[in-house]
Amino acid sequence: MRPTEPLRRLTDDQVGAVVALLDATLPAEAHRLAVDPQWMDIARHGRRRYAGFLAGDGDDGGEAYAQLTRQGSSWAIELVRLPEVGEAVAIDLLRSALDVVADEGGGAVHWWVHQPTDGHVRVAEAAGFSPGRELRQLRRPLPVAETTELVVHPFEPGVDDEAWLALNNRAFATHPDQADWTLATLADRMAEPWFDAAGFLLHPDRTSGRLLGFCWTKVHPPSAADVDGMILGEIYVIGVDPDAGGRGLGRDLVLAGLDHLHRASAATHGMLYVDADNEGAVRLYDRLGFTIHHTDQAYQTVI
Ligand SMILES: CC(C)(COP(=O)(O)OP(=O)(O)OC[C@H]1O[C@@H](n2cnc3c(N)ncnc32)[C@H](O)[C@@H]1OP(=O)(O)O)[C@@H](O)C(=O)NCCC(=O)NCCS
Repeated sequence: MRPTEPLRRLTDDQVGAVVALLDATLPAEAHRLAVDPQWMDIARHGRRRYAGFLAGDGDDGGEAYAQLTRQGSSWAIELVRLPEVGEAVAIDLLRSALDVVADEGGGAVHWWVHQPTDGHVRVAEAAGFSPGRELRQLRRPLPVAETTELVVHPFEPGVDDEAWLALNNRAFATHPDQADWTLATLADRMAEPWFDAAGFLLHPDRTSGRLLGFCWTKVHPPSAADVDGMILGEIYVIGVDPDAGGRGLGRDLVLAGLDHLHRASAATHGMLYVDADNEGAVRLYDRLGFTIHHTDQAYQTVI
């Protein structure tokens, strides 16, 4: 069973095969491909820097699937396979994805695994990956009792782009996904169906007007995996200028974001992703009552 050539967009039948594979392999909650409709959307419509790989004996594959996407300055791989499909197939899929990365200029690659097993560890090693980032999904019920008086205004596309980019790239100077954004990266995100400038909050310095921090929120459409009536509102990206850190701005920005999510979108739960080794952010969210919902592990390599 060999993986397909890289697919740059999936046909409806192929999307159906991947969805069936997700349904058959994992509870929907357990995989980022399943919880984030954006991934399927990318596969269906094709996108710059997307490649999909299906493996299986049928016309449309459907026994294992890998998806490669470019994320900021690095690459991300997602992979699902039926339990009876051997590890060799998973290794082939990863190698095929790495070939595409090499053809497209190389870079850091993260294969994201939800709650890794010994099998994942073996596959990762065989394909040349080593353990890397540990990403926690945190949640807390809304509303939050504490409030903030912080002055924020919504991002205005075409006006705030450059100033926000400069702030983002300062705050996330060493971050694998969020560093070195360009106007094109920002434009890609703003073109996403979920983008809503009203939930992208900016905090300027009162006297100079210079941006000091931001909290960009994102509302998730209801998922079959969620409890009935649950609406997840994500703190998608939050950053504070390093010069203005440690004065409570981060905390106020999270509170402003959660308040917006609850009031404007009726979000019942706040959610976010944080790297386990981001001590400052982990502490910030812990203080605000967030708890760990689940942990994803990345296996990484550089091509
Ligand atoms: C994480 C970040 C938003 C925090 O902003 P901030 O304005 O410095 O944080 P605050 O001053 O509001 O601090 C809030 C709490 O977090 C803790 N905290 C913040 N940064 C910390 C650090 N570097 N180390 C330890 N604790 C830290 C504070 O101690 C405070 O808790 P306490 O008052 O109970 O002690 C900011 O450091 C940042 O932009 N980092 C880079 C981007 C990033 O990592 N974003 C989060 C991605 S998930």
